[in-house]
Amino acid sequence: MKNILCFICSSTMKPSARFLISRTSKSFLGSAKHPLRSNRTHSSLANTCRPGPATSIIPPPPPPAARFIPYRLMSTVFRPGFASPSIAFANRGSFCVASRAVVRQQHSTSVETRVNENNFERIYVQNGIAAEAKPLVVERIDKDENIREVVSVEDGSAEEGDLNLRNPEGVEIVSPRREESDIEKEAWKLLNDAVVRYCGSPVGTVAANDPGDKTPLNYDQVFIRDFVPSALAFLLRGEGEIVRNFLLHTLQLQSWEKTVDCYSPGQGLMPASFKVRTVSLDGDKTEEVLDPDFGESAIGRVALWTLGLWWIILLRAYGKITGDYTLQERVDVQTGIKLVLNLCLADGFDMFPSLLVTDGSCMIDRRMGIHGHPLEIQALFYSSLRCGREMLTVTDGSKNLVRAINNRLSALSFHIREYYWVDMKKMNEIYRYKTEEYSLDATNKFNIYPEQIPLWLMDWIPEEGGYLIGNLQPAHMDFRFFTLGNLWSVISSLSTPKQNEAILNLIEGKWNDIVGHMPLKICYPALENEEWRIITGSDPKNTAWSYHNGGSWPTLLWQFTLACIKMGRIDLARKAVSMAESKLGADRWPEYYDTRTGKFIGKQARLYQTWTIAGFLTSKVLLENPEKASLLFWEEDYELLEMCVCALSKTGRKKCSRVAAKSQILV
Ligand code: GLC
Repeated sequence: MKNILCFICSSTMKPSARFLISRTSKSFLGSAKHPLRSNRTHSSLANTCRPGPATSIIPPPPPPAARFIPYRLMSTVFRPGFASPSIAFANRGSFCVASRAVVRQQHSTSVETRVNENNFERIYVQNGIAAEAKPLVVERIDKDENIREVVSVEDGSAEEGDLNLRNPEGVEIVSPRREESDIEKEAWKLLNDAVVRYCGSPVGTVAANDPGDKTPLNYDQVFIRDFVPSALAFLLRGEGEIVRNFLLHTLQLQSWEKTVDCYSPGQGLMPASFKVRTVSLDGDKTEEVLDPDFGESAIGRVALWTLGLWWIILLRAYGKITGDYTLQERVDVQTGIKLVLNLCLADGFDMFPSLLVTDGSCMIDRRMGIHGHPLEIQALFYSSLRCGREMLTVTDGSKNLVRAINNRLSALSFHIREYYWVDMKKMNEIYRYKTEEYSLDATNKFNIYPEQIPLWLMDWIPEEGGYLIGNLQPAHMDFRFFTLGNLWSVISSLSTPKQNEAILNLIEGKWNDIVGHMPLKICYPALENEEWRIITGSDPKNTAWSYHNGGSWPTLLWQFTLACIKMGRIDLARKAVSMAESKLGADRWPEYYDTRTGKFIGKQARLYQTWTIAGFLTSKVLLENPEKASLLFWEEDYELLEMCVCALSKTGRKKCSRVAAKSQILV
């Protein structure tokens, strides 16, 4: 086996690529020259739904030129005579069987692959037809913990639904208790029309579905982040299948092996989006494949960190709303959670508990000066750590990870509450900061020069209320207000109860700036003139008060609604929702609005943007069912506050912050 793998890895794959090119239709071949497409884990992995014949379950590494290769062709080349799962991924000699439900094969077999000395995985697929309820056993030695974990899951009814083909007609809309308004009816219809099917099953929704748009770019794909409000709308209407399918399919697309070179995604990274493509086979046959995009085709070419985090958040929501916890308990799903969290918790060149990321690696997916430790990432990171703690099955193999999660939760909340928070009192402190302090007791811990306090903030900071700033790192505070990060801090209790209240007070007090004519502004204020030129790189889409640069995004409405319900401010949510309701339909559900108060439809905004539609519907349902909202947010975790957040305290290098963390709750 090792020899075979060595051969595969060192052969540079040219023969196989030639073979595949000669046998596959041009329609599914990508550019051979594009460096980002070479040696890719997934785009060439042809997640296909058509059962293959008895062939290998070790596909070769993807040839550079071949994208969307029907699995059967790849496997036939390399391992004739073995059984084949219909969905499998290859990456430089490693492989994964992504789901038992798609394993259709005749033979029992066992395959091992040694990726490197530290990372060993063995997957047995025994008589692996899922429908026949055979067990999948994954034996895994966790790289971080060096603990062998053998997990076995019996295929039972819970697994039978995996990627199943039930309900091929589409998603059923269950009527709500009352007569819906016309606008709601239209929204449900549009949402239903946006559903994407893969092999007959609903698996997601397209980002935008404007019949008049002849250049949809990648908006005809299923975006992981964009699907979250759609998923919630469906779940709240009692429709779980599409969400379950989505969660399992995206799990299959997750990157499994860390390869830092050749532009491959890191282990645990989730794709930004995927597309169902129909590819031609020999003769006039076709089959459907899932083609993921990890950011290598997207306009900004960034790997988007938040997608794994959104996936985990949605997984928890699925369990909470449907009561079906079997999904999160599955061994492959547990491994998916671990991969995402391991990736986030990996050591890097950083000493802060917050995540260090590149610019544009979140909802704002192009250059906007948010590299470093942007709030949105930290809030979603914190939320998914809380989800992970709830969902991970504690075993010998996962206990170290659970410990790491607890430590990080504690440290991260202290860090954000203490250092990201600004209000009148804190601004006064910063204004009078001494700089160049050398000691462990420094007050100005990040050596912030007060001169960087922007002029707008001096006027804007209210007497009451406060918010978490957009970014913090040495000598740098980004004082812009970023809505998503602040809302998720409220929802996840990353910020203290008092801070949560103050954030909503600030939004209420600054209604014209943050809500204006359309809820809600993605950030405030916009970058203008020279700042815009330098920070965005003269991005014509991100001009002042447009798109990511101070544009207004109706999809933020559901998160605002959730935060308001949590904090007992239903009045604010109602006001925002009714404003959106009066305009969105007439404006044809734009992606975003422009101008300082969100008056105009965004100059390049897509119409019939699905997360605009779904965000509106989810808000409506949540307002009517606040008890459901409580399944989606977190209260303060007092146990976390009991934990020492300062690992260095024992060494005497630094004062323990526990008292400080606790005191924030008590004040
Ligand atoms: C834009 C947004 C991104 C969204 C995508 C699809 O690129 O910045 O957050 O996921 O459109 O709607």
